[in-house]
Amino acid sequence: MTTRRTDHATASVSRFAQALETAAGPAALSPSSHNCQPWGLGRATSAAARRAAADLTGTDADEYLVLALDRERELTALAAHAVEMEVSCGIYGRILLRGLAAQGWTAAAVRVLDDDGGPGVASGTAGGHPLGAGWPPAWTPLCVVALRPGPPSGERPADLHETALARRTHRGPYGRKPVAPGLLHVLEESGTPGAETPPVHVRHLTERRDLRAFAAFVARYAGRDFGHRAAWRETHSYLRRDTADAAARGDGFTLEQLFGPMSRPRRAAMRLALAPTTMHLLGKAGYHRVLAAGLADLVRRTPAVVTMGFAGQTPARAERLEGGARLADYWWRATRCGLSLHPISIVIQHDDLRGRLERELSLPGRTFFVSRVGVAGSPAPRSHRRADAAVHVSC
Ligand SMILES: Cc1cc2nc3c(=O)[nH]c(=O)nc-3n(C[C@H](O)[C@H](O)[C@H](O)COP(=O)(O)O)c2cc1C
Repeated sequence: MTTRRTDHATASVSRFAQALETAAGPAALSPSSHNCQPWGLGRATSAAARRAAADLTGTDADEYLVLALDRERELTALAAHAVEMEVSCGIYGRILLRGLAAQGWTAAAVRVLDDDGGPGVASGTAGGHPLGAGWPPAWTPLCVVALRPGPPSGERPADLHETALARRTHRGPYGRKPVAPGLLHVLEESGTPGAETPPVHVRHLTERRDLRAFAAFVARYAGRDFGHRAAWRETHSYLRRDTADAAARGDGFTLEQLFGPMSRPRRAAMRLALAPTTMHLLGKAGYHRVLAAGLADLVRRTPAVVTMGFAGQTPARAERLEGGARLADYWWRATRCGLSLHPISIVIQHDDLRGRLERELSLPGRTFFVSRVGVAGSPAPRSHRRADAAVHVSC
């Protein structure tokens, strides 16, 4: 009897390990600012870690996962990056949980660990971290999820994976034909109605007047980031020499991904122009305004722009993660509908610009995401992921 129960438990554990591996594949392909992939994933396997996770979630479950922010991979040059990092982790967490739900592992409880939580949240647990010893010191725990076997969600894991591969940031021109209003309406719908966190505001700009106003805003202000020394230095540190370099490092982007295919001489000239020191000098001659004008031109010829906003001006961690979850659902759904996205975060990464944009376009709440939406004219190159992207830590 005891043996049979042990066999059953072992089979369930290995079934979960398999399900986790399957779910981690598409999650690892999640988008993140600069492709920095700032997430970490822990699985409670030791008795102490499982007890701590059960206490934190208030739920006796079969499995526990911890979503973390990897501080060694986060962007820090601008204050707004703190929100972007948690939104990126929220995207990853959402796709991971969708992948697990598709295989019959249901989230029975989620405990978001507050910002001031840090080690304090975990007081009383071994090692001062929620899962105890073995937890990477550079990981800030964001939330603990308790999982139980349940009926599969109905989504096919293979579909999630296929969409994850098809979903790419498309930075080139989009067809000018308007996106069907019915389609935009579907995208605006929340994937998790009745969630406890305040709703995320999703708005589409499709009127010519609004799109022109947004393009003018980009032309006027998008140069700010190119001219911001710390921000540009950080962005530049994610610019990879070529595809081989990007593949070897498994993160960041190439010039072709940002600006499209180019000849070797043009690539050499751009590499020189974008180097932080040159950029600083060229900035004095107004080069950042030339780059902003190019971006504005793309925006002007785009049929739709989506904005997402938190309900309040100071969103708690639960809202930031929910914002990421909402963005994940939106982007995956858009991909399935044949639509592409190209985020334009530059206009919301400085508080004064964000406030101005919200006023000029009457955007509700605190905007955390702005992106072009449309049908891409040509396929985008695949971005790279780190080799250990789908791996989790067991504690
Ligand atoms: C919150 C967030 C903000 C982003 N902001 C920008 C941006 O301002 N400009 C841009 O070109 N891409 C932006 N991206 C897209 C990322 O650069 C992209 O996801 C990453 O390089 C991986 O490429 P992929 O989406 O093609 O997989 C953003 C992505 C996220 C999740």
